[in-house]
Amino acid sequence: MYTGMFTALVLAGVLALASTDSYHPDEPGSVRGTVRGTVQRDELSASFWQGQAQATVKRRAGSETGPAARNVILFLGDGMSVPTLAAARTLLGQRRGYTGEEAELSFETFPTSGLSKTYCVNAQVADSACSATAYLCGVKANQGTLGVSASVPRSNCSASLDPAARLQSIAAWALADGRDAGLVTTTRVTHASPAATYARAANRNWENDASVRADGADPQQCPDIATQLITEDPGRQFKVILGGGRREFLPSHVVDEEGSSGTRTDGRNLIEEWRSDKIERNVTHSYVWNREQLLRANATMPEYLMGLFESSHLRYNMLTNPTTEPSLAELTEVAIRMLQRNNKGFFLFVEGGRIDHAHHSNYAELALDETIELSAAVSRAAELLDETDSLLVVTADHAHVMSFNGYAARGSNVLGTARGTDRDGVPYMTLSYTNGPGFRAHVEGKRVDVTKEEKYESKEWRSHVDVPLSSETHGGDDVAVFARGPQHALFSGLYEQNAIPHLMAYAACIGPGEHVCNNAHIVIPLSSLLSSLILIIFCR
Ligand SMILES: *[C@@H]1O[C@H](CO)[C@@H](O)[C@H](O)[C@H]1NC(C)=O
Ligand SMILES: *[C@@H]1O[C@H](CO)[C@@H](O)[C@H](O)[C@H]1NC(C)=O
Ligand SMILES: *[C@@H]1O[C@H](CO)[C@@H](O)[C@H](O)[C@H]1NC(C)=O
Ligand SMILES: [Zn+2]
Repeated sequence: MYTGMFTALVLAGVLALASTDSYHPDEPGSVRGTVRGTVQRDELSASFWQGQAQATVKRRAGSETGPAARNVILFLGDGMSVPTLAAARTLLGQRRGYTGEEAELSFETFPTSGLSKTYCVNAQVADSACSATAYLCGVKANQGTLGVSASVPRSNCSASLDPAARLQSIAAWALADGRDAGLVTTTRVTHASPAATYARAANRNWENDASVRADGADPQQCPDIATQLITEDPGRQFKVILGGGRREFLPSHVVDEEGSSGTRTDGRNLIEEWRSDKIERNVTHSYVWNREQLLRANATMPEYLMGLFESSHLRYNMLTNPTTEPSLAELTEVAIRMLQRNNKGFFLFVEGGRIDHAHHSNYAELALDETIELSAAVSRAAELLDETDSLLVVTADHAHVMSFNGYAARGSNVLGTARGTDRDGVPYMTLSYTNGPGFRAHVEGKRVDVTKEEKYESKEWRSHVDVPLSSETHGGDDVAVFARGPQHALFSGLYEQNAIPHLMAYAACIGPGEHVCNNAHIVIPLSSLLSSLILIIFCR
């Protein structure tokens, strides 16, 4: 009887794990206080946001001409708020032995920077799903939904089947133009941000069939995100898929190479299905699950490459084994080499996805370190790709509530305490959080001195917070955008987040809407100018 109950409890735990995400509780609580105004009904349609974004493109592009981008990479620092950038560059400089504040992350040297507004149709503060729909599909959506317009309420499978609600990402736009596409992430490849490159789902948590069923939906009607990646377009056409999340592709009775079970209850092995699809299409392919195999694939260069390096997310860079696990820079390099073989060009999505997770846990040091890893990946891409034909855009999906506060002296350890103490003589951290799991109960009306704690200065030490929550929240502030390459200047100023893929598409001449190539009639390209001159000379 006890073992039965225990099994039931464990099962319930596993199911809960399968259908929700501890960093992002499904129901963060009831709405309290006044909601002002009402959302315009127009905002529920895709065309409203597409029209608005195209107007932004026209306004910003003017009659500008110039070179188009053959290749486009969007680098996404999940939760990489502006204070995260300032703190990460300081840590980077301090690790090199300098005061730190003057250091630069690789992309901070890009010629253009701007700001994007991240709110979603039904939310003041974005989650990674509605914001990914904005910066990859060009349309603002409801919190928790992926690749569908705001006419789809979260978890409503039937609403998500309406063709008018279903969106195409910039990865699909690139493929439709004969270019290649791929994704790289440090999270599960089925997690919200990368999933918006290929999936349409009324709930970001529908990463496997069990979680679709757990919400009362039918996976036959609304296939889970992993299934969409392997069996539907555009995912089936991606030349590179690199990240974590093996469990979403394997049935519960199958144990993966590193000893973890799958989460699927439909018995499907999607890694095998990926292989048989490629065999059927007679294309060379390779599936890898560790760094050594990845480096071998980098030498053999199959036409299609899928690498799933963990059962769930990749481990934090500071807590992983760099000889068996690839870094984000290595993954990015291999992906670029794979995609570069297409002369027409490519679209690649690269995500530093665990900046967000570290912040949710109030692990400031890990969040900064993951940001530095993203910076290294951008730096590698900038070395491999030419500024004249490759557009690199770096941004974040939403902010977080880490603050960079107090009056620490120049060169102070950015992971240390601020100058002085609080009113009670207790020190406080330069990097602390408004909310999260790092709350410490006050003792006799005073904050505790966290610097006396045993785990203080260890990598998984939580900084202190004001509001006790099981998971720290996202922030509603604007996030930065950095750009280098053809048409980079388009990304200056302040704009809605859903303008980003429209701006990239304009620069690359792919997808619907305005393209820089269509502006060509205004400026005569040098080659036609030369041929006209030659004609004139010969006609004389
Ligand atoms: C789901 O969406 C459909 C179609 O838009 C709608 O008729 C239905 O009431 C919605 N169901 C729920 C549970 O909200
Ligand atoms: C498969 O591809 C190889 C190499 O491109 C080619 O030689 C072979 O004829 C193809 N086989 C089929 C059945 O199409
Ligand atoms: C991938 O292969 C290229 C070409 O041989 C090599 O220069 C590069 O260092 C390799 N990348 C990795 C991550 O090993
Ligand atoms: Zn988050």
